[in-house]
Amino acid sequence: MLPVLGGSKAGLTEPQQAELERVEMWLAEFLAADVLVIGAPQYNFSIPSQLKAWFDRIAQAGRTFRYTDHGPVGLAGKKRVIVTSTRGGFRKDSNRLDLHEQTIEAFFNLLGTTDITYIRAEGLGHGDEHRSASVAAAEEALHAAIGNVFEAGV
Ligand SMILES: Cc1cc2nc3c(=O)[nH]c(=O)nc-3n(C[C@H](O)[C@H](O)[C@H](O)COP(=O)(O)O)c2cc1C
Repeated sequence: MLPVLGGSKAGLTEPQQAELERVEMWLAEFLAADVLVIGAPQYNFSIPSQLKAWFDRIAQAGRTFRYTDHGPVGLAGKKRVIVTSTRGGFRKDSNRLDLHEQTIEAFFNLLGTTDITYIRAEGLGHGDEHRSASVAAAEEALHAAIGNVFEAGV
């Protein structure tokens, strides 16, 4: 296991200790959250490396999920996830290598969270006019989704 994923600071270098502290802070923040809003542009068929690095720190066996004989079971509790999913092209044109939303879905499902809403802004590489319209529509949908969460409770 990576030394910065849980455990004691004993034997860790100073940078590793600092990283362990950061990871513990992010984990506590994640576990306490009722609603998560994730910004996820598509980068080369998948998610950005920064988001992957966060996934790698939050998915900890024994803390946010556990292994069982019947497959992994999520421990994260009930949460609502809103993903702003953006891309330069269009989902309809993507090929079998399109792992973007699949990766996000698999990650949250692993932790036991299935309430995921996608707010999409697509075709952002298709000129300024299309980009502005797509972003404006996504912003409106995002505000509506967040408003609905607070009106309905989680
Ligand atoms: C490194 C990199 C890889 C990208 N890969 C894809 C891709 O595979 N498919 C796609 O539709 N758009 C791709 N894009 C476009 C981004 O998804 C798009 O720029 C982003 O969603 C919008 O963010 P922006 O407003 O910062 O440009 C890529 C952009 C970058 C910088």
